[in-house]
Amino acid sequence: MTEQDFILKSYNSNIENGSVKWSSPSNIALVKYWGKKEHQIPENPSISFTLSDCKTTTEVTYTKKENKDFSFDIYFEGEQNEAFKPKIQTFFERIETYMPFLKDYHFKIETSNTFPHSSGIASSASGMSAIALCLMSIEKELSAIQNESEESHNYFNNKASFLARLGSGSACRSIEGELVVWGKNESTESSDLYGVKFEGDVHPNFHEYQDAILLVDKGEKQVSSTVGHKLMFGHPFAKERFSQAHHNLAKLKVILASGDLKAFVKIVESEALTLHAMMMTSMPYFILMKPNTLEIINKIWEYRAENDSNICFTLDAGANVHVLFPKAEKDQVYEFIKSELVAYCQNGHYICDSVGKGAKRL
Ligand code: PMV
Repeated sequence: MTEQDFILKSYNSNIENGSVKWSSPSNIALVKYWGKKEHQIPENPSISFTLSDCKTTTEVTYTKKENKDFSFDIYFEGEQNEAFKPKIQTFFERIETYMPFLKDYHFKIETSNTFPHSSGIASSASGMSAIALCLMSIEKELSAIQNESEESHNYFNNKASFLARLGSGSACRSIEGELVVWGKNESTESSDLYGVKFEGDVHPNFHEYQDAILLVDKGEKQVSSTVGHKLMFGHPFAKERFSQAHHNLAKLKVILASGDLKAFVKIVESEALTLHAMMMTSMPYFILMKPNTLEIINKIWEYRAENDSNICFTLDAGANVHVLFPKAEKDQVYEFIKSELVAYCQNGHYICDSVGKGAKRL
């Protein structure tokens, strides 16, 4: 599919009002996206686990108005929120070509997260995918053609992901589960424009994979991911890094099919450290890990060696640690987290999550 396929050609402008609601999850990348071209086109392919419980719920109520400008109000956890407005304004500007009805309506956007506010967990993936899905449901209500074929279901998901990408790149991987690939590559079915559900074989070792998110630092990031992505322009190691991501995705595809947990750990941890190595070697350089991030990583390595475990870590663009492990190790690993790792979490906070199946219409 191309961008042109996502332009809504005609719609029924007589519909006066309505309301739609979606809940959409966060995701955690195994092969990381870091570096983008114009219009949120990734420099390299990425693959992520969709999460189950870290979600944003968004309800959009739309009311007909005179067509002049964008008009919307945002409520975050019940309170009117001005801080999110510029981001949504930019989002609407980026997607208007594909959704020409946006100026015909006033939108009341009510949103809340299942994870604690200011937990340091990026809510842009779940937040942007939830609003993209709401807008797609509105588009469907306004569209003359209503059909429930597989083709229209795929179009709905692809366009929702396409729109979410224009809000925040990694958000395009939050529409479906359990694994989603984004970025053109030779190993899997893929697109630069939207996330595609990974259709390769997945060994039972990876079913219901666990993700315990250890909240090391709940503060604002010193460097936003927008700035971080830009620093990959002219980065001395960019070319190698982008090509490494292609190789890692190809290897991971084989690992997911074979169930080789030891090989999985190597790729996932190497990807996390490479992401942070890119930050440390950009100009200007920066470090998002905190001392407790390193303490946790070292404890995980000790535990893995001593218990012949398959526990591993990954990191986003921040200090928090995602601890990944197979369901079969759940009881032991949570014991370990409680006894050894909680001490390194801010106020002892961590979130227990696992791989999920994607967004849901409510
Ligand atoms: O979606 P963005 O622009 O916030 O970028 C996030 C990138 C990482 O989370 C660091 C990696 C990834 O692939 O999710």
